[in-house]
Amino acid sequence: MQHKTTALNGAFGLMIEGVTRSDIEDSTFQNEVHDLWTDNGGLVAVRGADLAEASPAQFMTWSSVFGMVEDASLASRQNRMVPGTPILRIGNIKDEAGNLKASFAKGVPLTSNADIQYNPETRRPVWHTDSTFRQNPPIGSVFHCRQAPPEGAETLFADTRQAYAGLDAETKARLDELEAVCSLAHHDKKISLYTPGYPLLNEEERAANPPNRVPIVLEHPVSGVPALYGLNSSTCAVVRKGEPIDPAGLDKWDLEGIEDESVLIIRDLLPYITGPDFTVKWSWQPGDMVAWDNRTTMHAATGFDDERYTREMWRLTLLDRVAAKAA
Ligand SMILES: [Fe+2]
Repeated sequence: MQHKTTALNGAFGLMIEGVTRSDIEDSTFQNEVHDLWTDNGGLVAVRGADLAEASPAQFMTWSSVFGMVEDASLASRQNRMVPGTPILRIGNIKDEAGNLKASFAKGVPLTSNADIQYNPETRRPVWHTDSTFRQNPPIGSVFHCRQAPPEGAETLFADTRQAYAGLDAETKARLDELEAVCSLAHHDKKISLYTPGYPLLNEEERAANPPNRVPIVLEHPVSGVPALYGLNSSTCAVVRKGEPIDPAGLDKWDLEGIEDESVLIIRDLLPYITGPDFTVKWSWQPGDMVAWDNRTTMHAATGFDDERYTREMWRLTLLDRVAAKAA
């Protein structure tokens, strides 16, 4: 690698600086960075002033180095997408009429680095793995910064590969036998409990989105390295692999939004997984492109002063090429 590289936290995460738009379109550079991504726990950032002018097509080309770019341009999301692309805008940018042109959720700004670690009392930051309720969960995402506030809005990453490696043999053996039950209906119901009016799945949608079961310890299909997996707001229970689920349990989780106590088997590990040994705080600069692998990392967003500052991020979701073809 001719560029300057900096490890972000030991073997987890790598920043590559001085990257240009022609680099991200160069196949040698692409292959090299793909390998670095795998070797560094599925977290790689490219930085360079030139990248702030990247076109949507260049961002899509770069993202496809890491997986198959998902083309899920839903009509309902059109005003939040970069026109004619599957790129979702995230942030607080507005059009001339003052309407939001991006997906925006108010977050809690970090007040100190100690806040990076998951706090069981506040249940923050909201550390998670994306969309494990889907039949073929996305393998990762790529974020590209267009405008960044001078402070706040960092993205936090945790290394679930080294976190698993650091567990004692007995805990590993126990977790190896388990899988997480992840349900979109449960996720939506749970959110509706503190967001009145949040839409719930109807019966038909529930039937079309049955819970997905994912291993708590996922072996990475490329590197073969195991990592902790399967925790987010859709995780409603942890069961033994293949164990049948009582439909009454499922109804309770999905219709009442009640999470089974068994989820604590993994949630109790969150303060450990998100401690300083395993985490990275990424502070964005315009142009930055960060690719992460959902199979070896967890992430969390932090807030910023959105009354004072403007933030615009572009996001693409990555699917597994093999699974996408089979589906
Ligand atoms: Fe996420």
